[in-house]
Amino acid sequence: MSLLAPSILAADLAHLSDELAACEEAGADRIHIDIMDNHFVPNLTMGPDLVAACRRSTSLLLEAHLMVERPDGIIPRFTAAGAELITVHFEACPQLHRTVELIRSEGARPGVGINPATPAGFLADILPEISLALVMSVDPGFGGQPFLSSALAKVKGLRRMVEERNLKCDIEVDGGVDPENAAACLDAGATVLVAGTAVFKASGGTRAGVSCLLELMGRGRPSLPAEA
Ligand code: DX5
Ligand code: ZN
Repeated sequence: MSLLAPSILAADLAHLSDELAACEEAGADRIHIDIMDNHFVPNLTMGPDLVAACRRSTSLLLEAHLMVERPDGIIPRFTAAGAELITVHFEACPQLHRTVELIRSEGARPGVGINPATPAGFLADILPEISLALVMSVDPGFGGQPFLSSALAKVKGLRRMVEERNLKCDIEVDGGVDPENAAACLDAGATVLVAGTAVFKASGGTRAGVSCLLELMGRGRPSLPAEA
């Protein structure tokens, strides 16, 4: 089964607990929290306190996507705040194996992401050690950017590696995912879709955004039988 992880980067942060409740009620699986440091990416967003606030507001799994240069020093703050899955970037971690071990030793599941210009093959050696491989389908830093379809071949390549080696590793697509390209992501072998704009800026509101994507993922709620 494929999973949906709304990215709260596009949420109305003035009403974050309502946004989280809407995601949970509509059937989303996880909450994706984008952490940006203004070094690895040209933007500054959320930190451990925001993760802790989410933890108080929802029982959904929290995944922290760390777009942070050399994140090791800050990782324990995110696990203490309640992040169950921590994704770091291949490009931001010169000692990636050590960083992945650190995440595990802190009691969280490790993920590793790659930017659009990084080949999927660069994850080959770390793949057996991680729970999630994140394929960026935009250059990270901002929500609302158009989907780069070159991500699909990378998802396929990773799926092949995971299957050939019989690994247990989710493949996540992040950036510009919407109702137009969600099926292509799943066909390529993605198991987790991140969506910010398509969820929180959906014309019918957050619940409708989640439901629409779940429907396309084959996860629509069975409609109630008509009353006799
Ligand atoms: C981009 C972030 C994404 C982003 C997705 O740097 O990592 O998670 O919030 O937002 P949309 O779905 O609007 O591209
Ligand atoms: Zn993200």
